[in-house]
This record gives sequence, structure tokens and C-alpha cells, in this order.
Amino acid sequence: ADIYFLFSGLIGRSWAMVFAAGGFKVKLYDIAQQQLTSALESIRKQMKELEKSGFLKGALSAEQQLALISVCTDLKAAVEGATFIQECTPEKLELKKKIFGQLDLIVGSNVILSSSTSCLLPSKLFTGLKHVKQCIVSHPVNPPYFVPLVEIVPHPETDPSTTEKTYALMKKIGQSPVKLNREIEGFALNRLQYAVISEAWRLVGEGVISPTDLDLVMSDGLGMRYAFIGPLETMHLNAEGITNYCERYNEGMRLVLNTFGPVPEFSGEIEQKISQAMSEKIPVVPKDLDARRKWRDECLTGLAKLKKQMKSD
Ligand code: NAI
Repeated sequence: ADIYFLFSGLIGRSWAMVFAAGGFKVKLYDIAQQQLTSALESIRKQMKELEKSGFLKGALSAEQQLALISVCTDLKAAVEGATFIQECTPEKLELKKKIFGQLDLIVGSNVILSSSTSCLLPSKLFTGLKHVKQCIVSHPVNPPYFVPLVEIVPHPETDPSTTEKTYALMKKIGQSPVKLNREIEGFALNRLQYAVISEAWRLVGEGVISPTDLDLVMSDGLGMRYAFIGPLETMHLNAEGITNYCERYNEGMRLVLNTFGPVPEFSGEIEQKISQAMSEKIPVVPKDLDARRKWRDECLTGLAKLKKQMKSD
């Protein structure tokens, strides 16, 4: 069977669970044994809970999936036999470059080297590596177990077969891969996210709407649709097709878009105002933040279930 190998932080653990659910052997690597021990404990606990609540992914039981996961603190041994390596170290360019440099020296020509980075460009990470053809970014969305999107971003020298294999693998483990044809700052997801955040910031900053109402515009408005159809299909359905939508709304959209302000500073008075409103709702202490995150993940679990149901209907 194929062997995959990762690092065992928050994202590494999630990836491990997703791959094990897909029936693949997973080897977790990390710098400290303690980190691996706690990763295994947390994965076991999560899988058992998921199994109990009926949300465990894949055809195997929690025990069978756990049996697929092993750990290792020796990089060379960890890489042996691997066909796909998903790097999940902290988001620091120098650290990631060092890891890929080390991997470059010990891997063969059949393994794919994939990074979980959310914003470092492939050209920054992989340029100069001997195995650059085998390198790619596979950017997950937190938490990957419930949010299936993976952005696949090649380096200019990445071999097309690397992209295709990574895409097929992500499909196979039940994720929802998308391909970017070339690298760009923020990839696609964060560009969309930042576009929304900056207009949210401007509207609140200009006193047009309160922070909590602004969030409702998304969670009880736009977001309801976006969980099922994207912005382009929304246009298509909101008129008699795209062409008709453009005929009808092209001028109006441009009028509104031309009133958008400059890129916000994300600091100072507006930051304080938004921070205060959010902290009133969810105090910035681990207990409250974790409780809200737990609730969010439960919502995402339910939504994932609903989406699956709606697809099969
Ligand atoms: P994390 O801090 O939870 O995990 C980092 C892991 O790297 C830990 O297991 C740590 O022991 C290990 N590590 C630390 N220093 C190391 C070193 N010198 N050598 C080898 N391993 C080392 O970080 P997290 O959140 O899992 O993020 C990992 C990557 O995933 C980052 O590139 C991040 O941008 C990306 N990502 C994170 C998302 C998130 O929401 N947390 C979402 C999408 C991508």
C-alpha cells in the first residue's frame, strides 16, 4: 500500500485522519516524540468521537483507520517508501525551505512533495530544488476533515503529471480539489476571503453597519447560498443566465464597485471597535473560543451531512 507522511500539528493531524479514512497508510513525522504521542492521542480521541456520532469518514472502523497511522522521528526513515509527502510545518518560509531542501536530498523521482502552505508561493518554496518537477502546493481549509476544498497550486516547473496525480489523490480521499493554472498571492480562496473582509471592514469602519449585523449579512444571507453554489452560478441563477445578468446588472455592479474604498489598514480605531464587538460576543479566553470553535465544527459537520444528502437526492 502507499505510504504518506506528514508533520503532526493541527493541520498534519487532520490530513492524517483524512488519508486514513481514504484507506491509505500514513506515517507522521515530527521533531519531538512528545508531539507525536499527543498527535496520536488526539487523533484516537477524535476518531472515536466521530465514530460514536456517526460522522467518521470512510469505509473502515476507527480502529482500522488508527492501525494505518504510524509515527516516526527520523526523517530518512519516515520518507522511505512514501509516494506522497504532505508538509505541514509552521508557516515560516525559511523553515519550510529547509525541510524541502532536506527532502530534496533524500527522495527519489517518484514521490510527490506537497506543501500545506496557506500563502507562501511555490516559486518561493521550491525554486532551485533538484526535484522541483515533483513539488506542488496542496492548500487545505481548516478543518480539512469537514471542509473538503484543496487548492492545488503548481510551481512554474512542476510537471503536469504531478498536478494530475495530486488532483486524483485528493479526489480519491474524498476532498474537493481545485487547480490553479499559475501561482498568485493568496491563491483563490484567500483572495476571495480578503475581498469580503476588506469590504466588511470598510462598512463597519464608516459606521454603515454594526460588526454583528455585518456578520449576519454573510451567515444569514450570502453564506446560505454559498454553501451550495458559488458566486458565478449565483449570477447565472439570479437572472436568465450570465449574459442576461450582465445586461441587467453590469452598470449597477460597476457603480457600486467604484465606490469601494482603499485597502484598509486593519489597525487603530476600527480594529478596536470590531475587536470589542466580537469579544463581547465571544470573550478572548481559551474556554470561550474553544466552545465556539466546537460549535462551529458541529455546524460544519451537519452541513457536510446535508450537502451529501442534497447531492444524492
Ligand atoms: P501547527 O503549529 O499546529 O503545527 C506545526 C507542526 O510543525 C507541529 O507539529 C510542530 O511540532 C512541527 N514543527 C515545528 N517546528 C518544526 C521544525 N523545525 N521542523 C519540523 N517540524 C516542526 O501549525 P498548523 O496550523 O498545523 O499549520 C501547518 C501548515 O498548514 C502551515 O503552513 C499553515 O499555513 C497551513 N495551514 C493551516 C491552516 C490552519 O487553519 N491552521 C489552514 C490551511 C493551511
